[in-house]
Amino acid sequence: MGKGRDAFERDGFLVLESFVSPGACDELRLRAEELVGAFDPAEAVSVFSTHEQTRTSDEYFLESGDQIRFFFEEDAFRPDGSLRQAKGLSINKIGHAMHDLDPVFARFSHSPDLAALATELGMRQPLVLQSMYIFKSPHIGGEVTLHVDQTFLWTDPPSVTGFWFAIQDATTENGCMWAVPGAHRLPARQRFHRVQGGSTAFEVFDPEPYPLDGEVPLEAAAGTLIVLHGQLPHRSGPNHSDRSRHAYTVHAIDGTAHYRADNWLQRRPELPLRGFA
Ligand code: FE2
Repeated sequence: MGKGRDAFERDGFLVLESFVSPGACDELRLRAEELVGAFDPAEAVSVFSTHEQTRTSDEYFLESGDQIRFFFEEDAFRPDGSLRQAKGLSINKIGHAMHDLDPVFARFSHSPDLAALATELGMRQPLVLQSMYIFKSPHIGGEVTLHVDQTFLWTDPPSVTGFWFAIQDATTENGCMWAVPGAHRLPARQRFHRVQGGSTAFEVFDPEPYPLDGEVPLEAAAGTLIVLHGQLPHRSGPNHSDRSRHAYTVHAIDGTAHYRADNWLQRRPELPLRGFA
């Protein structure tokens, strides 16, 4: 067993500096900015400012599993529905199928290095399920509260694994990742799933919050890959600094595990899941 796998099994995460080149990070960042530039916010502003806000924003989210869609920061809008600041600085993230639908993202998300790493970490049949480009823009970039990924991308047995790339330097000032080493041994305490009527709910198995003892910041220079075990509690803070903190993450599941039919993320059969290679 390799050193990487030992550390991953001990801590529930693995930090690999310089996994991707500065050039690859720049290319992905420019492509993300290009996608945002071409996006007409009217399409989504209506989603978030209509009287039927909950229903339409649920639909926009729930149908994004095999699309490229744009999600705004919570504080992006004034009460009248207009944007407080430029579109490019108002987007929280793009999701959730760029890794299959966009050529630049597809290239970044599939490589022999990633395939070898997934195998080394014990995945038997890694399938890339989901991608997110997260902007965490200066001052407006919101926090992501403590969670485990298994809650959202549930398989039996648990198999989801996060591959989180720092596209820009991530520090405690601009909202880097935090995690609790070793806490991946605890089972997931809740499950997010679809319910009748086009909405979602949490099934709670244990209402206690995850323990935060020993939580550490995972500061990461651009190009660093952080691999996260699907049961590892992690979070990231808001960005109160003047510097953005772009990150790109792909989540893979094991094709040998059962993916629940009521998980929020579902894909058309025409777009089957692919591996890393
Ligand atoms: Fe996560």
